[in-house]
Amino acid sequence: MLSRHDNETLTRTGQGEPMGEVIRRYWMPALLASELPGPDCPPVRVRLLGEQLVAFRDTQGKVGLLSEFCPHRLTSMFFGRNEEGGLRCVYHGWKFDVAGNCLDMMNEPPGSDYHTKIKTVSYPVVEMGDVIWAYLGPEDKKPPLPKFEWTQVPDSHRLVTKNWQECNWLQALEGGIDTAHAPILHRRISPTTQRPGISVNTNLVKGEAPRLEVDRTDYGYRYAGIRSIPDDKELIRGYQFVMPFHQIRPLQFGLQGQEPRQLIAGHTWVPMDDENCMVYNWMYNFGGDPLTDFDKEEEYQLGRGPGEMLPDFRTRRNKSNDWMIDREVQKYETFTGIEGINVQDQAIQESMGPIVDRSNENLSASDMAIVIARRMLLESASTVGDGGDPLGTGESYYNVRAIDGILPKGTDWKEALADQMYPH
Ligand code: FES
Ligand SMILES: [Fe+2]
Repeated sequence: MLSRHDNETLTRTGQGEPMGEVIRRYWMPALLASELPGPDCPPVRVRLLGEQLVAFRDTQGKVGLLSEFCPHRLTSMFFGRNEEGGLRCVYHGWKFDVAGNCLDMMNEPPGSDYHTKIKTVSYPVVEMGDVIWAYLGPEDKKPPLPKFEWTQVPDSHRLVTKNWQECNWLQALEGGIDTAHAPILHRRISPTTQRPGISVNTNLVKGEAPRLEVDRTDYGYRYAGIRSIPDDKELIRGYQFVMPFHQIRPLQFGLQGQEPRQLIAGHTWVPMDDENCMVYNWMYNFGGDPLTDFDKEEEYQLGRGPGEMLPDFRTRRNKSNDWMIDREVQKYETFTGIEGINVQDQAIQESMGPIVDRSNENLSASDMAIVIARRMLLESASTVGDGGDPLGTGESYYNVRAIDGILPKGTDWKEALADQMYPH
């Protein structure tokens, strides 16, 4: 349970809001690089932390992220012409480069230098890992580049998708770090169904509650869901939470009937505004091999496959159609009757309403990782409010992995898995 005040602090991300000021201190995904496929391609709208922006790629391939509204009379630059090194507003022809400088004004007399006095809002961007990242914070506080391991592997080793989720960023993040729900929400109830999910028949993962252990770090924390398995052993699912909104999880045991492979996946939940977030879903092979079609298919089956997405990155299965729940499937095949593990997550997170009122919760022991994440975010909000730096704006998260391990009962996983979770 959280006080109403703390709930407000955690969920509001606009300019000047305590959490808004925290999140503005990190690089954050703004759009997929593929949304701007080439020089002078059409601009796209971007909504980040309640700010309405427009992204474009200029003639040289450089990306700009500007206020959506032209500083002359506030027309949307989405309708602008992307031409010869700048984006030109179609109303009176003011033209801006990627840095927000006004290059030309078609409604001014020849010789006028008025354009040199006008700038539009522009934010720094960097293209990395198939994603265009933006920094919306104070210039002198810009952190090192977002070199997560997944952004550094060759393109052939990585798959990134994104989807629009209709709820506050924090309830989506909390779904991602809540390891206890996985074998419940995502379980299959029929041993023969072909639908993806976690089988209740496997020897490794049953529906029992895991023991949760959280190990705080300077980038967030690593945490493990620990479950007893036969032969006096324990299955450790070692995850990472990187401030302020990244989850990294191991994939090896998520793949049914296959040899364990060197795959890691994760999500990043970026607030579009306080009632919507954009979820970046990524997976990569850290072992030096490109992803196979099979790997990609596994990821797509979670619910982000090409046939599942609408052009605006909403999912075909969404709130307006109850995520296409099939009650027959729920009765005989899967716990939810909703197709796709990510869609199941999305459904239950959105079902809480746009911003859940956490003062009404009744938390249990399995919610420990969520409680600690909230605490860290609140601590960062007060640190930033006092003029300090939030957690995780250094480089220590560059070197983190999520790993599954099987260890003899009673082994200290933090020590036993340290080399694999911090490999470099
Ligand atoms: S509103 Fe953009 S040039 Fe006038
Ligand atoms: Fe889930």
